[in-house]
Amino acid sequence: EKDGYDHFMLKEIYEQPQMIIDSFRGRMNASEGWVRLGGVNEYRNKLNKAKRIIFGACGTSWHAALVGEYLIEELARIPVEVEYASEFRYRNPIIDGDDVFVAISQSGETADTIAAIELAKENQALIYGICNSVGSTISKMSHAGSYTHAGQEIGIASTKAFTTQVVILTLMALQLADYKGNLSKTQLNATLFELEQIPEKVRKILKLDDEIKAIAKEYHQANNFLFLGRGACYPIALEGALKLKEISYIHAEGYPAAEMKHGPIALIDENMPVVVVANNDSAYEKIVSNIQEVKARKGKVIAIVNEGDTVIKGIADHVIEIPATLEIFAPLVSVVPLQLLAYHIAVWRGADVDNPRNLTKSVTVE
Ligand code: F6R
Repeated sequence: EKDGYDHFMLKEIYEQPQMIIDSFRGRMNASEGWVRLGGVNEYRNKLNKAKRIIFGACGTSWHAALVGEYLIEELARIPVEVEYASEFRYRNPIIDGDDVFVAISQSGETADTIAAIELAKENQALIYGICNSVGSTISKMSHAGSYTHAGQEIGIASTKAFTTQVVILTLMALQLADYKGNLSKTQLNATLFELEQIPEKVRKILKLDDEIKAIAKEYHQANNFLFLGRGACYPIALEGALKLKEISYIHAEGYPAAEMKHGPIALIDENMPVVVVANNDSAYEKIVSNIQEVKARKGKVIAIVNEGDTVIKGIADHVIEIPATLEIFAPLVSVVPLQLLAYHIAVWRGADVDNPRNLTKSVTVE
């Protein structure tokens, strides 16, 4: 069932181009210029009037929520808060019937997320579920929702579930922005056309597998890793660090690149690999100076850059060149090389990638 791949995780990484297509198919049309998630359409009025959208999730799904926050605030201009489900449920959160609670969960069975939904429901919020598992507890508890259509995810480390969550959140942001009249027809069409190009761009990134494997070999004995990103790619730095921690047991931290100087910079020496997500156009100059700060302290820089980049190529130790896209899709493409990097580092270390110690596929305990 691994279709010739060594691990489910690798198979699932490679399935992403198709799963991304499956998650947007029938939900948008670039040439006709429309986007439509059924659940969003059904609760259109409620969502339009929402005073706030609160995301509740755990782990990788929480990282998707952070990307969602960026997209929805940027495009739809609705205030968004992102909560760890486990924290939300144990305090006395401010939430009422004018709020929309969006739960994101691959399994749809995560106990903390379920408890957070119960609390949001008691407080009259509309519950919108973004789940992968069809018929799961969370999908049944939600008033409305969208399935991610990533297919069954077997590898413990979540990969294709994350990218498809980000697709759904992008569609949601675009649809809400369209309702509010924030996007011109030309902008909406251009964005949807670019979304249609993403699967092909991800396919191109997958062709960098051998290159990434070689980088992984060079650094697989490191004890620590730092991951940096800015804007919507900051959650990708968090996700890259989480993937590495989970399957290789290397200590890794994700940081907004500009926060580095407020503490973590003290950790940097010649033994510290720093992975920088640098394909984010508007933050480019800033990211370049963050990379210079790392190099000045002899850190090793592995940078994710757009194809044809010359500036970062000149200063980083390694660059992984990926196809350029619109800034709102930068998170979606840049996570893929980080998944491959974590995967190969874990394999070089001889770790059991599909069954990392202490982890289970769905965390049904509180
Ligand atoms: C990371 C991972 C976990 C899950 C988290 C939430 O690779 O698998 O961090 O993302 O336990 O799980 P779901 O999305 O099923 O609620």
